Amino acid sequence: MRLHIFHVVGARPNFMKAAPVVRALACSDFLRQTLVHTGQHYDVNMSEVFFRELGLPAPDVNLEVGSGSHAQQTAEIMSRFEPVVLEHKPDLVLVYGDVNSTVAAALVCAKLLVPVGHVEAGLRSFDRTMPEEINRLLTDQISDLLFTPSIDGNENLLREGVAAEKMHLVGNVMIDTLIRLLPVAQEGTILTRLELQPYHYGLVTLHRPSNVDEPRMLASIMAALNDIGDDLPLVFPVHPRTRERLKTLEVRALSPCVRLIDPLSYLDFLALQRSATVVITDSGGIQEESTYLGVPCLTMRENTERPITITLGTSLLIGRDLTRLRDEVRRILEGKGKHGQIPPLWDGHTAKRIAEAIMNWGNLS
Ligand code: UD1
Repeated sequence: MRLHIFHVVGARPNFMKAAPVVRALACSDFLRQTLVHTGQHYDVNMSEVFFRELGLPAPDVNLEVGSGSHAQQTAEIMSRFEPVVLEHKPDLVLVYGDVNSTVAAALVCAKLLVPVGHVEAGLRSFDRTMPEEINRLLTDQISDLLFTPSIDGNENLLREGVAAEKMHLVGNVMIDTLIRLLPVAQEGTILTRLELQPYHYGLVTLHRPSNVDEPRMLASIMAALNDIGDDLPLVFPVHPRTRERLKTLEVRALSPCVRLIDPLSYLDFLALQRSATVVITDSGGIQEESTYLGVPCLTMRENTERPITITLGTSLLIGRDLTRLRDEVRRILEGKGKHGQIPPLWDGHTAKRIAEAIMNWGNLS
């Protein structure tokens, strides 16, 4: 009997996590795989370009849910995903990260008694005002296999009563993709196209509701970026949500040194990140990628579910303190930026460990 594995992806940060797992499982004759895209992200530059660059096969099923409130989006994914599960009867459904697609798919499966594997389990910001924290907590409670990226994940899960035998400390799967594609990214031309000198620019991304949904906060951040732009040119690929918010905002004219551009593909973004002087972000994944790349990262959040990027990595939590943001950029320009180490098991072999754990679980090894 061949084990039928579903992968459910929906939003940009899922794609680079699923790609190595799909590749690792493709090596087995005992498995067949179905890739389900919920359609949470649907713009070409938020989804399709990632499939192409990451070598992900085209989705077998696209639920095409699109945008909506959290309740609408989650409910829509659930009601469109349930008949697909009933029809295909997968043996295991893998969900990734902490987006609405993750919790929606996990909940459908738990109710249908279909086993769920959560890739990137156990991360906690301990901030329940963050939608992703709710998604993480719920998904982990109803998952059967929990693949953690670092030991803090296991500790959090144990504290929440998750049985130790369900947990597999496998490392950071997104770093598998980074390691595989960094040489390809470095052959790209994005720096030349944007007329940037390596290590002479900062890279910015912001999309969290806590930063961009409140007009005063967003205006203050843009003013701080303007100031920083006087010392260091900034490139800011703008997430569609942030683009919407910026339209309604009366920001004083942006300095030509702060360039707002469309969201970038995986390879272009990786190339820019690799040669940046500093990364300013509120993303989870970018904190990890910059830690791996050894690039100082100023994280525009009050907390992080990825504490290892602070304790071992290059990230500093800046919160909403824009004076500190300006000061830290200055320190980095003076050559006093934070140095870090690469955390254990961020070695490019995480997907292989996930595949082995799945084979053992399915008694296939
Ligand atoms: C989602 C994830 C977040 C992740 C982020 C990465 C949740 C709760 N949040 O946030 O954890 O860090 O993805 O990008 O799942 N939009 C488009 N085109 C798209 C997608 C979105 O225009 O392809 C716009 C829509 O106006 C939409 C808004 O962006 O309403 C927000 O999209 P949504 O998927 O709800 O959340 P993200 O902010 O992208």
